[in-house]
Amino acid sequence: MVIDLRVPTLAELHTRRGEKWDLHPPDVLVSTIAEMDFPLAPPVAAALHAAVDRHDLGYAHARIPRLAAAFAGFAQRRLSWAVDPEQVWLVPDVMVGVGELTGLLGGSVAFAAPAYPPFLAELPAVGREVRAVPLDDDGALDIDRLRALFAAGTRVLLLANPHNPTGRVLPRPELERLAELCAAEDVWVVADEIHAPLVLPGAMHVPWLAVSDAARHCGFALTSASKAFNLAGLKAAVLVTAAERTRERAARLGWLAEHAGLLGVLAAEVAFTEGDAWLDAVLARLAANRDLLGRLLAARLPAVRWTPPQATYLAWLDCRGLGLGDDPAAAFLDRGRVALAPGPDYGAPGAGHVRLNFGTGPELVAEMVERMVRTGQRERPPEESSEGRSTW
Ligand SMILES: Cc1ncc(COP(=O)(O)O)c(C=O)c1O
Repeated sequence: MVIDLRVPTLAELHTRRGEKWDLHPPDVLVSTIAEMDFPLAPPVAAALHAAVDRHDLGYAHARIPRLAAAFAGFAQRRLSWAVDPEQVWLVPDVMVGVGELTGLLGGSVAFAAPAYPPFLAELPAVGREVRAVPLDDDGALDIDRLRALFAAGTRVLLLANPHNPTGRVLPRPELERLAELCAAEDVWVVADEIHAPLVLPGAMHVPWLAVSDAARHCGFALTSASKAFNLAGLKAAVLVTAAERTRERAARLGWLAEHAGLLGVLAAEVAFTEGDAWLDAVLARLAANRDLLGRLLAARLPAVRWTPPQATYLAWLDCRGLGLGDDPAAAFLDRGRVALAPGPDYGAPGAGHVRLNFGTGPELVAEMVERMVRTGQRERPPEESSEGRSTW
């Protein structure tokens, strides 16, 4: 089967109505929100068309045997994770799941920083106290800092794995150590694994609930088809457990199902059952884009430092060598007309950084880098040659 991942032109992308493309003027190349620009997987598009043709746009509901079975099959095939379909609950999206679950579990919530910005903004807005723990130089969680937080009373660890924005996949020994610590300190783990289907060749994701008995005893997983299959606006994610005490708590959130979107449920069922070939093609494209980005950065912006992500289409770029201040994204947007996600939104360790989204066509990845280069080109005095001069 030939899978068409051609990305529309910039002008066509700007006709899309979602936040990513609707927010900026037409001359801006957008590389912000974590969505890819590829056409939908054909079976998913067909399922959505079919639902509209049936006039089937009513409420979703909590009985989701087909979605639970589809997700369990996907988890087994792609992540070697045995999911009990009886322990899968429908929630509107991962962030609503995180917000409600952390409220139910109580106490403050620890997570790694840099962090997905809604951890820092939305969780306090719904009344959670948050404790951001800076990642160490290797991108790993600082176990000593965590231990101190737990000793001081923090009862929940929110673990984004694969991590956004770094794209790091936590290795099994690190997960095992965390599980032992959390079990010993009686801390709950809310594992946000929304990027897990997007692990790139060369890395392996270990789902939290597949780590160990200790991890299952204290852990909840939240994930969805939305990042890997571009369905974020359809609002359907799953909460998964693998122990009696977690199952009992997840069941208390059953009411969330009615706030999910039926189209999201239908699309996720098809994505999880018929989406593998499309997803494989996407992963190959993302791996090629990651390599392309690496070559272009090395050639055109050698002062930018980064660790190529092991998962996702997100690149966390340390731009401090460019001298653009704490928020380089502002200069890139203003002078280069490329919108990148501003590092400071990801917490204090994000100063001087941007997050670039390479889930698009290779020509647009190249254009992003050129626009970043253009940001550093001085206004040319009239007497200078026609060559633009880069200050970098
Ligand atoms: C780590 C992480 N968690 C949660 C979300 C949001 O997921 P949802 O749209 O299902 O709330 C994202 C979106 O990019 C993410 O990167």
